[in-house]
Amino acid sequence: MADIKVPFYGHVLQYESIKQEIDAKIQEVILSGQYVQGPMLKKFEEELAAYAGSKYAIGVGNGTDALWLVFMALGLGPGDELITNANTFFATAEAMWVAGCTAVLVDCDENTRCIDPAAIRKAITKRTKAIVPVHLYGQCAPMDEIRKIADEYGLFIVEDNAQAIDARGDKFKIGELSDAVCTSFIIQKNLGTFGDGGAIWTNHQYINDKVRKLRNHGSSKRDHHSYGFNSRLDDLHAGVLSAKLKHIGAWSDRRIAIAKKYDEGLKGVDSITLPYARPGYRHVYHLYEIETKNPADRNLLVNYLVEKGVDAKTHYSIAIHQQEGFPWGKDARLSGPLTNAEKNAASCISLPMFPELTDDQVQYVIDVLKAWKK
Ligand SMILES: Cc1ncc(COP(=O)(O)O)c(C=O)c1O
Repeated sequence: MADIKVPFYGHVLQYESIKQEIDAKIQEVILSGQYVQGPMLKKFEEELAAYAGSKYAIGVGNGTDALWLVFMALGLGPGDELITNANTFFATAEAMWVAGCTAVLVDCDENTRCIDPAAIRKAITKRTKAIVPVHLYGQCAPMDEIRKIADEYGLFIVEDNAQAIDARGDKFKIGELSDAVCTSFIIQKNLGTFGDGGAIWTNHQYINDKVRKLRNHGSSKRDHHSYGFNSRLDDLHAGVLSAKLKHIGAWSDRRIAIAKKYDEGLKGVDSITLPYARPGYRHVYHLYEIETKNPADRNLLVNYLVEKGVDAKTHYSIAIHQQEGFPWGKDARLSGPLTNAEKNAASCISLPMFPELTDDQVQYVIDVLKAWKK
């Protein structure tokens, strides 16, 4: 087995593959002389709305801001409970606290790792106002089931789509069954800029209007302000994203092809569980997340992979409620048991996954993993 280095990200390779398109957009922005809420932001917002099949898209500073700006636009705040899964990136719950809401953490499905609709039902109280499903690792949560629950109890749905741009359900599109979709464009996401960025898309005009004001110091007219913040997507980032958006479909297809190679190559390895893609769903593999059957093996296997030149990581080895000092004197609540989320935290490993990985690198990861002996 030849020693090959397999990095976790391919940011520079991706830039090199469409350098001319990105450089042209950057030049266009610089020469426009307008860098904040300028013409490139407007153009990208229109492109994103068209791509998402949504009436409105609004660029903001990052994916965390996208979430709390929507919560505020919906009028959610102190005393309101928002339900999400405990096994997500910290920002999903953090955004709830920024808005002054109570994060209610529930379990995930044991196979998909997305929020478990049965756990949502059990967590609902008179204070529940919204469900915030996370399309974890690149696979949609079961939005049709979640929509039914929201209709039954009169709840908002805000999709945390930081990890799943270009994914789909079997019978639904992202954004079709919710009030708003929030996404992140931090560089490591499937659609990422050279730094931070985020966006919201929605079909509700009132959410669009409110978020546009909130992101810009509460202002929609020069010198006129109400309560607000500064959270805008810079035009330079909008330009980079506009160049990259055209490629997202092909990049997702390559991720899916790599996942298939991993699935086939690793299917006989007894010590691990492979990711589960729901039939008919387009899982875009933001992360190819395996689990060790025995949680005690997780760190041993990560260390072994790293020693062999495979840059494996974990997403997320500590669930939100397991973070030190939780809930930090803030308002949060668990609706347990959180057995699947805790098992996931204890045993997850992310293998390298980005569109520019070569077939040889993928095969090397497979060979190294198959050769593992405790
Ligand atoms: C599920 C999830 N939600 C929210 C965020 C927050 O996005 P950002 O880092 O752009 O604030 C991220 C990623 O970082 C994420 O993975």
